Amino acid sequence: MAGSTQKVVLITGCSSGIGLQTAVMLAKDKKKRYHVIATMRDLKRKDKLLEAAGDAYGKTLALQTLDVCSDESVRQCINSLKDQHIDVLINNAGIGLVGPVECISMEEMKKVFETNFFGMVRMIKHVMPDMKRRRGGHIIVVSSVMGLQAVVFNDVYAASKFAMEGFCESLAVQLRKFNVTLSMIEPGPVHTGFEVKMVEDVSQKEFPGTDHDTVHYFKNVYLPSSIDIFETLGQTPGDIARCIKKVMEKRHPHFHNLTNPMYTPILALKYADDTGDLSLHAFYHMLFDFGTLMRITTSMMKCLTCGCLRSRTISPD
Ligand SMILES: NC(=O)c1ccc[n+]([C@@H]2O[C@H](COP(=O)([O-])OP(=O)(O)OC[C@H]3O[C@@H](n4cnc5c(N)ncnc54)[C@H](OP(=O)(O)O)[C@@H]3O)[C@@H](O)[C@H]2O)c1
Repeated sequence: MAGSTQKVVLITGCSSGIGLQTAVMLAKDKKKRYHVIATMRDLKRKDKLLEAAGDAYGKTLALQTLDVCSDESVRQCINSLKDQHIDVLINNAGIGLVGPVECISMEEMKKVFETNFFGMVRMIKHVMPDMKRRRGGHIIVVSSVMGLQAVVFNDVYAASKFAMEGFCESLAVQLRKFNVTLSMIEPGPVHTGFEVKMVEDVSQKEFPGTDHDTVHYFKNVYLPSSIDIFETLGQTPGDIARCIKKVMEKRHPHFHNLTNPMYTPILALKYADDTGDLSLHAFYHMLFDFGTLMRITTSMMKCLTCGCLRSRTISPD
């Protein structure tokens, strides 16, 4: 149970990746400032978390079942907490989806929205009324840089993240009146199960209903550069956990929090030209005309942003 001075932090999707690392980092806080409710939809997947948490489990870390796609599951979890009190909600659970739209069923697309968008809305709807009543609380949403700038062949995933950004941008203004803060975390590529699942799924897919050229562009042009980008620009789940902790501990957290300074120039392109042509043309040429140049560009970006743009992001260091 949480001590009287500890903040109660509920995190979704803690069986792996960013959620797991964030739960462990907060539970192991040296000053024991947090009581972490680490949740996952299937407790059979708890071993990695418990191993990483060590003796924090049962002290500053508790485990609960929570499926963000189920009202009943969310209600049961929150009702099991003392006074249903949550100081910080970290909405992290999410799923990815890449590939040509033609071969993705409507069911698969709806599942992405059910989890990423409606899952987040469900969590906020359950937690927000108590925070508003208490005139205090912090809602942290793990979005993505793809919620600000979409990436080719990530159409549905990017749309779900854009939806999250739009919902939260609207809600944040109202919540401020109730002294409730809403912060978005916008990671670029992160080495987690996400990336592994993407490569596995794609290698098994047959792309029904998709023409030969599109399959070629996806498999032989997009995928190699995507893997390249993960390799050159990828962060670790621990990096993102450190960013989340920093945002939590700021007196006045920002609304947008990019975790990777390498993405600042890409967003600058978008905001420099309100017709959208500049970023559309840049992405088009980088992908289809200048594959090799793209590699050089990623390395150059890495060099260029080694420190000078960090102040624009919530750097993990
Ligand atoms: N990895 C990246 O490159 C990247 C980049 C930007 C943003 N993000 C975002 O970061 C967040 C965490 O992803 P990750 O990279 O840490 O990937 P991950 O290792 O695959 O973790 C995703 C977590 O979400 C959980 N989850 C999925 N559906 C759920 C549901 N219905 N209810 C509750 N939990 C559910 C998964 O649980 P199961 O084990 O049960 O499947 C897992 O614990 C996601 O929102 C993702 O969009 C990731």
